Amino acid sequence: MTQDELKALVGQAALAYVEEGSIVGVGTGSTVDKFIDALAASGKKIAGAVSSSVRSTERMKALGIPVLEASEVQGLKVYIDGADEIDQQGHMVKGGGAALTREKIVADLAETFVCIADESKLVPTLGKFPLPVEVIPMAAAQIARRFAAMGADAQLRAGVVTDNSCHILDVRGLSISDPVAFEADVNQWPGVVTVGVFARNKAGVCLLGTSSGVKTLT
Ligand code: A5P
Repeated sequence: MTQDELKALVGQAALAYVEEGSIVGVGTGSTVDKFIDALAASGKKIAGAVSSSVRSTERMKALGIPVLEASEVQGLKVYIDGADEIDQQGHMVKGGGAALTREKIVADLAETFVCIADESKLVPTLGKFPLPVEVIPMAAAQIARRFAAMGADAQLRAGVVTDNSCHILDVRGLSISDPVAFEADVNQWPGVVTVGVFARNKAGVCLLGTSSGVKTLT
């Protein structure tokens, strides 16, 4: 199976976590696009979706899925999103599509984060995928220096301005053995909007697309 087919497989499998009439948190990315398409094609009627990006909002609206503001909801049962990396404990690296801040905000509203990913995303330790960090532009150089002091290399993602008018640093050369401590530490640095480690808001369920079908990791 191709990576695209594996993404479609888990996008379809995620429908099992969507209750008719409920409000669902929806992430961003090529895997989530498959989920959105599967939801629209299923005919399952939801009360609405809370979206994590302009990209997902536009796709859902085009397919007739109602989109609600995060401020309109008290909480969500599930948040469905992809990942750039996920470990066996459900900690993730996210933000390859630059939507990490809104993804973390919507994930935080949800009881359960359902991660949908093809098997290439499962790693023993986070850090091989360049870690996205959303930053206030004037702080980017100082934050890059802080990463350099840790032995890592942070580069500004050229030409990218986020939905929140901020910039993204992609950080190479990290091995994140303690994702909870790492997330808490980097989040304290002045000018960091969001670090792309999702440890506090980790996945409760991961639907992993493999050549032998969908594996459910909990
Ligand atoms: C978006 O900012 C990201 O967090 C995505 O969820 C992540 O990059 C996974 O994307 P794909 O499903 O396109 O691999």
